[in-house]
Amino acid sequence: MRSLTPQIRGRFITFEGTEGAGKSTLIHHLERALRKNGITTVVTREPGGVPVAEKIRELILKNEMTPWTELFLYEAARAEHLQAVIAPALKSGAWVLCDRFTDSTLAYQGHARGLPWKKVETLNAIATAGLEADQVIWLDIDPATGLRMARDPNRFEAEGVEFQTRVRAGFLRAMRRRPRHWIRLEAHSSSAESMAQSLAERLLKKFKVTGRASRRS
Ligand code: TYD
Repeated sequence: MRSLTPQIRGRFITFEGTEGAGKSTLIHHLERALRKNGITTVVTREPGGVPVAEKIRELILKNEMTPWTELFLYEAARAEHLQAVIAPALKSGAWVLCDRFTDSTLAYQGHARGLPWKKVETLNAIATAGLEADQVIWLDIDPATGLRMARDPNRFEAEGVEFQTRVRAGFLRAMRRRPRHWIRLEAHSSSAESMAQSLAERLLKKFKVTGRASRRS
């Protein structure tokens, strides 16, 4: 997919964070704000976003498995999602808003589960053919607060505060790889609407979009 890069016209924006930070609400409001500015958007998530990957998601979230199995399943779901959804959307000029991506794998499987960081980076690069986010939005929350706010507990949440604290440290580590591509926002520091509005303004400015770009059909 490296060969895709020169043709990419859309923007790839990923959302990261520990549990309970409110990523999906922020994404919902950001999408509305971007669409008001004429941006064509595609909202998707990992693991998932396409039927095969949604099946892998079920498998991962409902079954105990070794960290390596977990890692390969996330990467398998990602390879499918990238080819079927993300790459075509970017090629068409859409802004792809993706709930979690490769930095979750670094933070959860790499840092929190303790798999070798470099190997996780390598597998991420293989699954994505080298595609990285144009912008990572990290919705940061105190892990204990986040766990209290999480609505739909999965087996990662069941591992408790200590695990979530390691995941958070993993995001800090991932941010240091490409700091200029990251924005860290304090979760629940203002309403999701106003956070999304100012984020939209920041992104439109950063990506130099003026006025209404293209209408969503
Ligand atoms: P989900 O219920 O979507 O969590 P959230 O709403 O917090 O995003 O479940 C996805 C879980 O998968 C979440 O706990 C994070 C985890 N995950 C990984 O461990 N590695 C990954 O590469 C990805 C994409 C997610």
